[in-house]
Amino acid sequence: MKIDSLALKIADEKLIERYSNRLRKFGGDARTLGWDNQNNQYSRFEIAMKIVDFNGRKILDIGCGLADFRAFLKLKDIVPAVYAGCDINPELLGYCKNRWPMDNFYLANILVDDISDTSYDIVTLFGVLNFRFKEFDNMDFARQMISKAFTICRESVVVDFLTAVKDLKYPEEDFVYYYDPCEILKFALTLTPHVTLRHDYQSLPQREMMLVLHRHPSS
Ligand SMILES: C[S@@+](CC[C@H](N)C(=O)[O-])C[C@H]1O[C@@H](n2cnc3c(N)ncnc32)[C@H](O)[C@@H]1O
Repeated sequence: MKIDSLALKIADEKLIERYSNRLRKFGGDARTLGWDNQNNQYSRFEIAMKIVDFNGRKILDIGCGLADFRAFLKLKDIVPAVYAGCDINPELLGYCKNRWPMDNFYLANILVDDISDTSYDIVTLFGVLNFRFKEFDNMDFARQMISKAFTICRESVVVDFLTAVKDLKYPEEDFVYYYDPCEILKFALTLTPHVTLRHDYQSLPQREMMLVLHRHPSS
């Protein structure tokens, strides 16, 4: 079902407030983004790096947060042709612009705002779908975000989720959404037959899965 624009605006306002409060509390730390620590955050990026080659690619990082993925790429000596980040939170973007003055950062919710440049090789969404919405159905949101991301990528969309096949060692949280991996895979296959779904890596600290939608078959 299409997401009502007023409902999306209300949800965005809540998310902006949440992350801005955390930025004031934690500053440039992974905890600002709701991650427990940088190790787990970087492990997530490592999983993506094993599936997709980011070197020399034009990358759009949707929901870039503090642009920590940019820092991760540099640490790994991966040099993208272009790195651009977008987010709905102007304060996080201000931090990114100071940190990476040579890269492009812009304020946008890809569901409603036009993306001026629609030709990225790889589009990433790390942690962007985790929040549980009261205003609309999370699966509707995930479907629409992924579909839009796929329209602007020439090669691959990388997106991660908390899985409904939970790690019972970690207490369940009511403000996040746990996605059914079968439902996610079934949806992804409506966009492309070339799909990677990794549901095998260690919990970070909750169990997650990573989906990559490829425009072309892998070699
Ligand atoms: C959990 S944080 C992850 C940040 C970063 N991707 C990382 O892995 O460190 C989620 C980010 O997504 C952003 N976000 C949430 N919904 C969004 C949307 N519809 N469009 C763009 N950004 C969004 C939030 O403002 C926040 O910065």
